[in-house]
Amino acid sequence: MPTTTFRALGLVALTTLPLQAQETDPNLVADRQEDGRWVTAEDIPTFKIEDDGTVDWATFSGFRRYHAECHVCHGPDGEGSTYAPALKRSALTMDYYDFLAVVAAGRQKVGASDNSVMPAFGNNPNVMCYVEDIYTYLKARGAEVVPRGRPAKRADKPPEIAEQEAACMGG
Ligand code: HEC
Repeated sequence: MPTTTFRALGLVALTTLPLQAQETDPNLVADRQEDGRWVTAEDIPTFKIEDDGTVDWATFSGFRRYHAECHVCHGPDGEGSTYAPALKRSALTMDYYDFLAVVAAGRQKVGASDNSVMPAFGNNPNVMCYVEDIYTYLKARGAEVVPRGRPAKRADKPPEIAEQEAACMGG
């Protein structure tokens, strides 16, 4: 059936091209760890996946927070829904700071007839204390370096992240 062939080709493209991108795209490549989280050379949060599939703490944390706060509208695993866009793609195409701004302030299409609203999360510590992690997880999903579902293996939680979390949630 032609549809099956088409889908098979699509899968090949998805699993090979982005993996190369992970190694070369400066917006994806982990340069160093800062305060427990991996960042690119430009200080933008990113993922770090070991050869055996172990994900960094931020990616794992982002998986959990995304599925607590975002997936009801944006679909499981960042795949999108009929209501809201696939954030695994947005995390690759949107500027990081624009992404943060939309999460904090929300957004509504001007003149949208379907009344689709992205709520503002700026006052919600369960989102804002973990927004870097959510972004990191979605970027890893977009680059197809983590499969759908709960990551099987994760790094331990860095003590710096535990400290920041306590300060953020407490303050
Ligand atoms: C109540 C439903 C709902 C929830 C919950 C929700 N969103 Fe959204 N989000 C939307 C809708 C609808 C849009 C599209 C709005 C538009 O284009 O005007 C959107 C758009 C976005 C965009 C812009 C995407 C793009 O490509 O332009 C980002 C980023 C985003 N949401 C992040 C998040 C994050 C992160 C969470 C969880 C913390 C979240 N959203 C939770 C409904 C939701």
